Amino acid sequence: MKITESIIYIGVNDHEVDLFEGQYDVPNGMAYNSYLIKDERCAVMDTVDARFGGEWLSNLEAALDGGKPDYLIVQHMEPDHSANIVKFAEKYPEATIVGNAKTFAMMKRFYKNEFADRRVIVKDGETLSLGAHTLTFVFAPMVHWPEVMVTYDSADKVLFSADGFGKFGALDTDEDWACEARRYYFGIVGKYGAQVQTLLKKAAALEINTICPLHGPILTENLDYYLGLYNTWSSYGVESEGVFIAYTSVYGNTKKAAELLKEKLEAKGCPKVAIADLAREDMAESVEDAFRYGRLVLATTTYNADIFPFMREFINDLLERSYQKRTIGIIENGSWAPTAAKTIRAKFEKSREITFTDTTVTINSSLDEASLQQLDALADELV
Ligand code: FEO
Repeated sequence: MKITESIIYIGVNDHEVDLFEGQYDVPNGMAYNSYLIKDERCAVMDTVDARFGGEWLSNLEAALDGGKPDYLIVQHMEPDHSANIVKFAEKYPEATIVGNAKTFAMMKRFYKNEFADRRVIVKDGETLSLGAHTLTFVFAPMVHWPEVMVTYDSADKVLFSADGFGKFGALDTDEDWACEARRYYFGIVGKYGAQVQTLLKKAAALEINTICPLHGPILTENLDYYLGLYNTWSSYGVESEGVFIAYTSVYGNTKKAAELLKEKLEAKGCPKVAIADLAREDMAESVEDAFRYGRLVLATTTYNADIFPFMREFINDLLERSYQKRTIGIIENGSWAPTAAKTIRAKFEKSREITFTDTTVTINSSLDEASLQQLDALADELV
């Protein structure tokens, strides 16, 4: 697949992976992207996951069409992109490995080799000329690891964006970009909003026609749409008007309250009400929805003097990702000493710009007249 006259896609699709990065469900697989830039000197942009070394090397060989690569540029050392560095280096002993100081320190830790006799260590902003193409390396620490750098090709106006602008899903599946890119972003990079903002500011100074990420499709049109979403996500802004209700339920009483609240919100004209049973639905989907909407309702039971485990895990996932700038309502349920609301409020104590609704719904085992009135009041506050 040609991306420009001189940039060729040489990545692979993975439909075997069960959990990406050991935790994310990827029903449509995963793509590990890699690119060849053909010029007077040829550069390969990253490798692919360990299981696809043979396929990737044969893609590279076909794209080279009898030529030899001069450089392997390592933008990110996470093994889904770096696992075939040694295989590449063995197959092409004359090629130079390009990375930064942190890249090579990690390479030594992962692969017990830092290629001291055949490497170029670049600094932030440094360039590498391939002939017609000049590559500029822009450091993007913590998007998503400390050694990450992105690369700008001024000839074809292509930004090689490393994990940035990536998504779950192989390239041979047809699915909405934003849905799986949002789940990927908040799952993997969500904690590092400030660092993504820094990268976006650097990118704003560049003329970009094409974004080539390490996962997901190559972006060639309507780039403002993707850049705009990344700006919203990384600044913890609200993407869609609506409410997300996340609940756990042991015997169905908390579930009943959560579903009733959804009905009440919809009846009052709330533009969108998303709801999830945290024990049964994909946790990364719920994390994504918590960041997508401006208002969140947490409905759970008191459990072992804490809260129900799936809710505890969900809140931890939000806190790890610097959850902020949101309104939270609480529905608590307890049969003898309901304390879930107090526990939840304490968990968000250090979070920035979190506002709790005035109304908290307290259910004693099952809904009654008083808690039904509280549900009405909560629905009023949320719309
Ligand atoms: Fe796709 Fe952070 O590795």
